Amino acid sequence: MAAHPKNVGILAMDIYFPPTCVQQEALEAHDGASKGKYTIGLGQDCMAFCSEVEDVISMSLTVVTSLLGKFKIDPKQIGRLEVGSETVIDKSKSIKTFLMQIFEESGNTDIEGVDSTNACYGGTAALFNCANWVESTSWDGRYGLVVCTDSAVYAEGPARPTGGAAAIAMLIGPDAPIVFESKFRASHMSHAYDFYKPNLASEYPVVDGKLSQTCYLMALDSCYKRFCEKFEKLEGRPFSISDSDYFVFHSPYNKLVQKSFGRLYFNDFLRNPSFVDEVARGTLAPFASLSGDESYQSRDLEKANQQAAKQIYNVKVQPTTLIPKQVGNMYTASLYAAFASLLHNKHSSLAGKRVVMFSYGSGLTATMFSFRLQECQHPFSLSNIVAVMNVSDKLKQRIEVPPEKFVQTLKIMEHRYGAKDFVTSKDCSLLPPGTYYLTEVDSMYRRFYAKTSDHTNTPKPDNNLHANGGGKLPVLEILGFLFYGLRLNHVT
Ligand code: ACO
Repeated sequence: MAAHPKNVGILAMDIYFPPTCVQQEALEAHDGASKGKYTIGLGQDCMAFCSEVEDVISMSLTVVTSLLGKFKIDPKQIGRLEVGSETVIDKSKSIKTFLMQIFEESGNTDIEGVDSTNACYGGTAALFNCANWVESTSWDGRYGLVVCTDSAVYAEGPARPTGGAAAIAMLIGPDAPIVFESKFRASHMSHAYDFYKPNLASEYPVVDGKLSQTCYLMALDSCYKRFCEKFEKLEGRPFSISDSDYFVFHSPYNKLVQKSFGRLYFNDFLRNPSFVDEVARGTLAPFASLSGDESYQSRDLEKANQQAAKQIYNVKVQPTTLIPKQVGNMYTASLYAAFASLLHNKHSSLAGKRVVMFSYGSGLTATMFSFRLQECQHPFSLSNIVAVMNVSDKLKQRIEVPPEKFVQTLKIMEHRYGAKDFVTSKDCSLLPPGTYYLTEVDSMYRRFYAKTSDHTNTPKPDNNLHANGGGKLPVLEILGFLFYGLRLNHVT
């Protein structure tokens, strides 16, 4: 019988995002948007996307294999595997079951957990499921594993620059460097049609962009209010922004993160003006009497909030923005990629610090929760997690693709979505070593993957995951993009 677990949280993390990306400045020009709209207006630098050989399953196979290998975790040590994703590939078969191929090889099929879906929130639901399992009486002493995986793509139009793609894996257990402060969790869940995917024949969501921004901010206010109330009840003193060292937000695009932190600052001002500095009190005073609804519509308030909170934003939020600005909205992985950015930027000074997290999924579901960070022994030290994630190299080694090729790829994916009986180009020349890629979807919609060699970019034919090998001849597809065929810039 395992001892009652203490300090349950995230022991280890790894992140994978596709090497193919498009610069927002180039996309802006290509789309005929006014200069600065995507870069300054939305606050985004670059956007990752899956080429025709990658999808949410290949990305999660890659990140799970990488995490287990780099932290030397025996697959038999995993007792629960939870996946968060909103990228629907199959309406019945979970992504988790694809990942079971990794564990079956070592004889471990005794792994609970399936997929959780509600827009960008599924990863948080998966994380809570795993942490709750470790803290429960049914815990058997093994690790939990959480995977957040999504490819965020939008139809042509204003939402398209807010896409992205990534997969994150997190190992869950006791005595972790990233510990849940479970008592302070606060949620807000309600019914809204802000972003949803009713058309099962398309990967693209239906989006009411403006409503989604307001829903996000309303959910943030509600969660923050409840979080503060729970904190005060348990700690006997009020909570304000000064009680947390960092704030990490679900990040569809950076401007919304700036607005969100401004909104928290405004909440502090309304609760107790002495929580904000004197200059900010003067800036925010004219908005104190606005009703809730009026406050969400006031552009002047939005600007005043951001201006008043700017200096604190630079300290408490800016270090969390690197990957979301570079990779884009990763849906379920977005919040955790922002957290990974914080680890990357500040790992040597994080011990003892509190980090508040805000998770939002349209439809809508939202939770604010917090971590307390502490130093742990290798391999679960914060510095080793940062070394394993190796964010700088992953960003530097990406391939910048012209917008035309990005659009062309999305067109191909539109035709492929829900399709059967095709083989991909199997061109994995752009993929890093140890990356899984899609090779074929057969006449029964079964998906097959292979893996690039762990040392070079050459495919390993003997490494195919359950390829049926039924003597099928590859169907030559004249897609005109076997090689991107254009200047491929390494992103610096
Ligand atoms: N230079 C600088 N800034 C500019 C320029 C320019 N040339 N042109 C516009 N801007 C600014 C605007 O003023 C605006 O900034 P503000 O919000 O501070 O006022 C910003 O750029 C965006 O411009 P809008 O005209 O508001 O953009 P649009 O309505 O075309 O699209 C939106 C933005 C709604 C976010 C869209 O991309 C979208 O629908 N995205 C998907 C939905 C989404 O991500 N929602 C977030 C929560 S839900 C989720 O995570 C999926």
